[in-house]
Amino acid sequence: MSNRKILVTSALPYANGSIHLGHLVEYIQTDIWVRFQKMQGNQCHYVCADDTHGTPIMLRAQKEGITPEQLVDRVWHEHKADFDAFHVAFDNYYSTNTPETRYFADDIYLKLQQQGLISVRPVEQFYDPVKEMFLPDRFIKGECPKCHAKDQYGDNCEVCGATYAPVELINPYSAVSGAEPVRKSSDHYFFSLSDARCLDFLKSWITPPHVQNEAANKLNEWLESGLSDWDISRDAPYFGFEIPNAPGKFYYVWLDAPIGYMGSFKKLCDDRGLDFNEYWKPDSTTELYHFIGKDILYFHALFWPAELQHAGYRTPTSVYAHGFLTVNGEKMSKSRGTFITAKSYTDHIPNTEYLRYYYAAKLNASMEDLDLSLDDFVAKVNSDLIGKYINIASRCAGFLSKNFNGKLGQTDLANTLEFQNAYSDGEIARCYEAREYSRALREIMRLADVANQYIAERKPWELAKTGGRDDELQVICSTALTLFRDLTLYLKPVLPELASRVEAFLNIAPLAWHSEWQALPAGHSINAYQHLMTRLDPKLIAQMVADNQESLTPETPAPAQTTPVPQAVIAPLSETISLEDFSKVDLRVARIVNAEAVEGAQKLLKLTLDIGEAQPRTVFAGIKSAYDPEKLRGRLTVMVANLAPRKMKFGLSEGMVLAASGDTPGLYILSPDDGAQPGMRIK
Ligand code: MSP
Ligand code: ZN
Repeated sequence: MSNRKILVTSALPYANGSIHLGHLVEYIQTDIWVRFQKMQGNQCHYVCADDTHGTPIMLRAQKEGITPEQLVDRVWHEHKADFDAFHVAFDNYYSTNTPETRYFADDIYLKLQQQGLISVRPVEQFYDPVKEMFLPDRFIKGECPKCHAKDQYGDNCEVCGATYAPVELINPYSAVSGAEPVRKSSDHYFFSLSDARCLDFLKSWITPPHVQNEAANKLNEWLESGLSDWDISRDAPYFGFEIPNAPGKFYYVWLDAPIGYMGSFKKLCDDRGLDFNEYWKPDSTTELYHFIGKDILYFHALFWPAELQHAGYRTPTSVYAHGFLTVNGEKMSKSRGTFITAKSYTDHIPNTEYLRYYYAAKLNASMEDLDLSLDDFVAKVNSDLIGKYINIASRCAGFLSKNFNGKLGQTDLANTLEFQNAYSDGEIARCYEAREYSRALREIMRLADVANQYIAERKPWELAKTGGRDDELQVICSTALTLFRDLTLYLKPVLPELASRVEAFLNIAPLAWHSEWQALPAGHSINAYQHLMTRLDPKLIAQMVADNQESLTPETPAPAQTTPVPQAVIAPLSETISLEDFSKVDLRVARIVNAEAVEGAQKLLKLTLDIGEAQPRTVFAGIKSAYDPEKLRGRLTVMVANLAPRKMKFGLSEGMVLAASGDTPGLYILSPDDGAQPGMRIK
């Protein structure tokens, strides 16, 4: 038995989003590898954490009216529950917003500074004068400089696919406040990646086995096209760690994110009495592996090893990048209902090991994308897991319990040879080690076919019916269970929960790769067979997809109604009008700057609407029954701006806001999509 010391990480998920089936490719891939290593008797530690810093998290917390710490804490619990549900067994799941991570961030930063690898220079960026903050590219919108599509992000256009710098946008505006951003300069801190020491080091480092072949090619292209220094600071306000001796400057989230691997491991070391330095000193004989998606290769295979190298730490043994998940051959999509969160999966499908099995059956060591074909998912789980694997136990266990009081007989050793050879050959273990899980599972299913054939040829159910050949029946069933035990061993990294139920049923110690193959001994007692796994019902998948599609419809409070209204019953349509007729109506996006009740009016609210004119307008709207004025203040809606002013009992109404209503109670004013500005015309 080998005794390697191994530290494994998965990328740290952002703390502002839910875990989805795409993320799970990575965590399941890593978890299988870690479980395999542990079953080999290696000392393997698996750490991860939430990636908590940065502008999006700060802004989202503001939007929810909570502190970033509160947001991060809530999301941590959600993520942890998702990982537990999918049996992703971290030895420590931590957060980057911790003293350990801060300590190592400062330590690495200061050491790089001592090495002369930190420089400071001014950077001009877009600044939101209302929000008083610099805007990351994603928070600047405007008109695409190439195709003139409106409301495109600061880094690329979703309409024509062009990429550009935010300063190239036409009529840019802040997606945070809507204000026009100004250009402002401030000092930024840089990690000198273009320094010859970094380049020379990376040139020799980005080779297999540090990275996969295909990754090495990509990284070399980047290297040859020239690396620029890396901007590692952001100005306040920012949720993150302030840089030592640099008031108002914070580490950019990607600086402390990989350092979160160290922070999480340090916590584990403190909890378990492990020696942190043994794993991180430059000449360490332990192994360090980072599992990541191909989208974050640049950070893990260039910045990160260069930082570690020059801050006096060991560099990774390997960075293992995987491809991206597609569902039914396409990018996960909300409109198709294939953007599925971990939570939505567990809400609909009772067993998470189905997905672990399917991913394993598709995963290899490459960076190719991997497809979750939902039909194939059902077919594969049912034919392989139920039809081939579980079937072996379910066909034989009953006879042992009924006819032999749960006691095993002799094993038909001659018919276990194929299994004995597979075990001593070690091919399945090699496949796991090399992350060629799909090959491992193909071999395991081939063995399952061998076992099924053994049973099919001997038909224990006929022996049981005719009676009189009890010894034979007991040998067949006992042999089948030994083969089943082997298959369970091989599947255990993928199906840990199922394997532990099999161990309980077979009444055996936790399965691990032992030095010598042995049949289950004659006279051994097993426990009564309990149903191990049920078929995956395709209806559950259909329901899950449908529910994810439904969740797209806006969340309007359901009107209080007792009988459902048939959808076809709508008010009759008005007479057809020409485009010319319609264009007479001048509809504008309006900001509700104030909303208040009107004394003496039961239905009216008095709205003050800004459509970018010198003076805001006053409009009386009959929406008091549906809206609390407090909640309206600040939001955008749609108004008819050229309606002749009307004198009302309470004052002059200078326009009209639009609202939807039907036969049932409920009244709904309109909202434009994100990015619309007061005064924009709607046509
Ligand atoms: N926070 C960074 C990682 C910092 S690591 C020091 C990040 N977070 S993430 O939440 O966007 O992604 C976490 C991991 O999930 C990444 O490795 C990413 O590649 C992976 N995946 C996210 N979506 C994925 C798919 N659709 N398919 C496969 N992997 C995916 O990046
Ligand atoms: Zn464009």
